[in-house]
Amino acid sequence: MTISTQELAKTLAELTTPAKGLLAADESLGTIEKLFKAVGIANTEETRRDYRELLFSTSSLGDYICGAILFEETLKQKSAAGLPLPELLKAQGIVPGIKVDKGMLPLSNFTGESVTQGLDNLAQRLGEYKQLGARFAKWRAVINIGAGIPTAQAIAINAHMLARYAAICQEHGVLPIVEPEVLMEGDHTLATSARITEEVLHAVFHALHKERVALEYMILKPNMVEPGHTCPELATPQQVAQATLICLKRTVPAAVPLITFLSGGQSEAAATANLNALNSAVEKPPWGLRFSYGRALQASALHAWRGEATNKLIAQQALYQRARLNSAATQGNYTVVMEQE
Ligand code: 13P
Repeated sequence: MTISTQELAKTLAELTTPAKGLLAADESLGTIEKLFKAVGIANTEETRRDYRELLFSTSSLGDYICGAILFEETLKQKSAAGLPLPELLKAQGIVPGIKVDKGMLPLSNFTGESVTQGLDNLAQRLGEYKQLGARFAKWRAVINIGAGIPTAQAIAINAHMLARYAAICQEHGVLPIVEPEVLMEGDHTLATSARITEEVLHAVFHALHKERVALEYMILKPNMVEPGHTCPELATPQQVAQATLICLKRTVPAAVPLITFLSGGQSEAAATANLNALNSAVEKPPWGLRFSYGRALQASALHAWRGEATNKLIAQQALYQRARLNSAATQGNYTVVMEQE
């Protein structure tokens, strides 16, 4: 494979800026529908535009955010004043990126499991996305924990798709974010999450190796190792951090420059506290440990906005505050007291 390392290196340098993370604002039409519905907002092209414009025009967001992941529609939308939304980000020093997968399909013959689609025409689409300003990409694979699942085959096929996607992105000078998400849905324990996450990451890096992906030019976006949402045994941030670090050290080569966690349905405060614990470990890991949160950056902002123009500023302040606290957590400098500031 010939890859244009110059472009990849430039994008990587911007996305690895210390103390900054990524804003995941790439919710698909179905996902944003659910989030909007919960706060009484109609899901239209215009409300989606207004909402993303609100997020991206948050004053000084670039203080704490260095990249934003967009949904394809957003990449092509313009602000009310007629500026392409990616330009709003660039003006803040934030690199625009794009979710390139096309969502999940049930995996035939494997009840309860899925495979992510979107490899068809990916190379061609990447060319178009680059023209529109996207410099990095994201592909999410989803692994469910349940009775008898995940199966080895579901893990293998999803790892293979992630690796094919990453190889195609690198070939086209688009930095790939590789996102294998082990879901927190269910009552599984911390130990089960650790075992499955380790198995998944091991398969993903094996597949990346087989597809000759340059690990130096990618970002890993994993779940933290946590008990399932309905598990009666809770875990402290220290326990989450310890289990997550053990798992990452066993599976992620030191060549990978950056790990940006997804929030996966954790509360905003929990996602920040867990990231802080990860960055408070005495022994420093070889990769940066930052954030690429969707819900854990946006929940308060969306609740504050509720689709009303008059709430715009307070929604933006909520986003800025979460970005600031997560930035502190990337340095191990977050304390719960900061939630009140
Ligand atoms: P959450 O942080 O809400 O899990 O979203 C991150 C993301 O990009 C999911 O694909």
